[in-house]
Amino acid sequence: MPRKAKAKAKTSANSKDKILKKHQKYTRLRGMKDVLFDEYKYWDLVLKKASNLANYYGFQRIDTPVMERLELYERSTGKDTDIVSKEMYSFLDKGGDKIALRPEATPGLVRSYIEHGMFNLPQPVKTFWMGPLFRHEKPQSGRLRQHTQFNLDIFGEESPVADAQLIAIAYNFYSELQIPVQVEINSIGCSECRPEYLKKLDEFYKERGKRSKLCPDCKKRFVKNPLRLLDCKEESCVAVREDAPQIVDSLCDDCRDHFIKVLEYLDELEIPYNLNPFLVRGLDYYNRTVFEIVPLLEDEEGNQKRQSALGGGGRYDGLVEFLGGRPTPACGFGLGIERTIMKIKENNIPLVVPEINYIFLAQLGEQAKRKMMALFEEMRRAGYNVRQSFTKDSLKAQLEEANRIKASYSLILGQKELIDGTIILRDMESGTQEVIDYKKIYQEINKRLEDKKNKEENE
Ligand code: HAM
Repeated sequence: MPRKAKAKAKTSANSKDKILKKHQKYTRLRGMKDVLFDEYKYWDLVLKKASNLANYYGFQRIDTPVMERLELYERSTGKDTDIVSKEMYSFLDKGGDKIALRPEATPGLVRSYIEHGMFNLPQPVKTFWMGPLFRHEKPQSGRLRQHTQFNLDIFGEESPVADAQLIAIAYNFYSELQIPVQVEINSIGCSECRPEYLKKLDEFYKERGKRSKLCPDCKKRFVKNPLRLLDCKEESCVAVREDAPQIVDSLCDDCRDHFIKVLEYLDELEIPYNLNPFLVRGLDYYNRTVFEIVPLLEDEEGNQKRQSALGGGGRYDGLVEFLGGRPTPACGFGLGIERTIMKIKENNIPLVVPEINYIFLAQLGEQAKRKMMALFEEMRRAGYNVRQSFTKDSLKAQLEEANRIKASYSLILGQKELIDGTIILRDMESGTQEVIDYKKIYQEINKRLEDKKNKEENE
């Protein structure tokens, strides 16, 4: 191409690029969600329930950074787990350090417990954590790349009471939100008894024809993390595991006693559970009790349908020491907030929205606007639920807004009222209006709010 034509083509390509960029629409990343206005009602409900329960049971709020060293997750969650080997958002930062966006909260919490010397505090230390987590999973309904969890963890307590109490809190969380759930529970033993069980499992899977039926992932797991063969969801793997030896039959005396106590406490609290010998959880640090909270759902024939877990947790007695702290027993759980909200919507659970008596301040004319802006601040500080739309000049538009927010009363100030030292009080339900003395605003409003309250109580 001649030089001139080449230059012309380049200029035209550049301007096309510019036009494209100008009109480009940015969309959110796959698997990430915006939480918009109406959705927030559900978040408020769920977060309030979570913090309420946490306070009741004596857990204290703690936050940890969104990023940690990649190695923290590799060592604690486990290098061969799906979370670390497949789903981690990790990168080299500008200083050359290997960093990861947290895929789960537990490693960061343990790091924080050790780093701040929390073993010097009266034990147990009970933490309440809530925040976003990042996993590069294949997005689908209920599976996001950024999700939010509510975690409760207990450090420095080995009693099975702690395990049972955590399960009870998780169960109460869902029951009180009117979401029917089932607790799935198992014990995966400890470093004493698990190797013996793994030997039996190894022998079982080595029997003729079994390994060849496993899915490609499980063929790898057989070498690296054989326990995970039990919780694979692939049909062929589920069929093979049916007759696998059960870990509860191989527990040492201490682990068996611990597990029996947990179950007895749950019986006492009348918390229904299902002993699930295939529940092992996909994270390396667990020992003894592991549990998941799954939604209860039946198909048309009344059979239970398998659904993704709403939450899960268990004991991790070795993790604090493994990460360099003093030997400290620990246990906890994480509940998925987005999945919980999905269930509330699916089950059409009504949101209880508290009735608030809003007082709307409307104005007509520049001088009235100024006076009402000052009155708004005064009433807000005095604790009234005042609302306004001072950017609007038209009275009609302002009263439409008052109707939209379902205000109980409006106070309207115009030129005439300004001169007379009065204000209009409008009952938004009946539409009746009265002219009242400006100085008696509080007196008149209080009287009406009181009458309304008495009327509602008598109904
Ligand atoms: P986890 O089972 O990996 O446990 O996650 C807990 C819950 O987080 C799940 O049951 C689910 O509701 C939600 N969740 C997980 N991944 C996603 C996702 N991609 N999209 C939407 N929701 C999701 C843990 O993370 C442990 N650290 C819990 C724990 C705390 N164990 C002891 N203390």
